[in-house]
Amino acid sequence: MNKKNRKFYTIIALLLLIIGFLLFKNNRSTGSEYMPDMGHSKAYETYTKGPLTFWFNKEKFSLSSLLPVANTIPTEGLPSNELYSKEPSVIYSYRYTQHFSNNDQEKARAGSSIFNPYKPEAEILKRGEAVYTKQCAVCHGKGGNGDGPLIVREDGSEGAYTAVPPAFSDRLPTLKDGEMFHSITYGKGMMGSYASHVKADDRWKLICYIKELAGLNKVQQTVDTTKK
Ligand code: HEC
Repeated sequence: MNKKNRKFYTIIALLLLIIGFLLFKNNRSTGSEYMPDMGHSKAYETYTKGPLTFWFNKEKFSLSSLLPVANTIPTEGLPSNELYSKEPSVIYSYRYTQHFSNNDQEKARAGSSIFNPYKPEAEILKRGEAVYTKQCAVCHGKGGNGDGPLIVREDGSEGAYTAVPPAFSDRLPTLKDGEMFHSITYGKGMMGSYASHVKADDRWKLICYIKELAGLNKVQQTVDTTKK
């Protein structure tokens, strides 16, 4: 072995030693790692001292998982009516179906505990109409009379879908908004669930719109004017 070769092997040996040092370390530490390869978890243990300890002295901030920010929403239960009237889509994140089961008692409970955050204003009705035309009119008909093209063909013959939906002007007066929300979310009889087609926010707007079709919003307004 000549001098040049000896030098070369010494360098290789030193390098291997350094690399070995980097790889051989305490498993509970998350320290630096040469080519991390999922050999062990680099995760911090929950609520132990975490990565921010260095920057923040306060215990509250130095935990490995921080406490929820004030006014954020828990993952169980429905948010309060007050909260979701500001942000109607949160009712969806809260998995309505986990809070209300699919039966008549629960439908009634929805009717008395959740309320439409929207009023039938022009903007809301416009969105309601757009969604209704795409998702609902095939059965319920443009005017909400249960005569969409799936029910009655253009030539007047019976359509492909044999379950005839009730006219909204007959059915909706018997329902509270929360009950309609329940039916649109779970489906009702031969009508399937629209939970995956229509987001919660739009469901409320749809409800404003179908009540408009049923003439119910106008009734409300007439009552109000006679009161004045
Ligand atoms: C495939 C046809 C079909 C489509 C599409 C459809 N429905 Fe229905 N819908 C029905 C039928 C049939 C009923 C009657 C169900 C019953 O009472 O058994 C009904 C009933 C309803 C009711 C009354 C529910 C109750 O609790 O009595 C509402 C409200 C309603 N539909 C809204 C909608 C909305 C909003 C859409 C669009 C997102 C829609 N439907 C789409 C067929 C349909």
